[in-house]
Amino acid sequence: MAIAVCPGSFDPVTNGHLDIISRSARVFDKVIVAVLVNSKKNPLFSTDERVEMLRQVTAHLPNVEVDSFEGLLIDYMKKKQAQVLVKGLRAVSDFEYEMQMASVNRMLDDEIETFFVMTNNQYSFLSSSIVKELARYDAKVTDLVPPLVEKALQERIGNQA
Ligand code: PNS
Repeated sequence: MAIAVCPGSFDPVTNGHLDIISRSARVFDKVIVAVLVNSKKNPLFSTDERVEMLRQVTAHLPNVEVDSFEGLLIDYMKKKQAQVLVKGLRAVSDFEYEMQMASVNRMLDDEIETFFVMTNNQYSFLSSSIVKELARYDAKVTDLVPPLVEKALQERIGNQA
């Protein structure tokens, strides 16, 4: 059984993430979406909130499960017996960092492969940071995130103001 892991901060999940996750779910037997705990990035949403939003927006995908992890991704993947690490590539600017990560991960365990999925063109500019920035300035993010994430952003950022 081919098990893939889609790791990330998902602060919050965007339609771009969802595109990569759902396309991966068509290829692999099981896809584990793994939310990084203790991100240095000072997240807007807690790990539990990020996991819960992901669970709700992937509920229609029966072979997708959502989890969180701490420490090295490779160690988590071994524990889950996952063989493939899936990352989305948006633009050339992603390439250098992703190449570095894939090389380090291969050095740590050469039995785990990193597969890159080209992001759908319509999401090539999209990131969680951009979505948060737009939401802070009260711009519409309806086309960029699932409705429940839009609501959560309004509530969280509205509460901060
Ligand atoms: O959504 P992000 O923030 O780009 O995701 C980055 C992530 C979670 C994939 C990356 O930071 C990660 O794998 N962190 C866990 C620590 C690790 O294994 N690092 C790679 C070797 S240095």
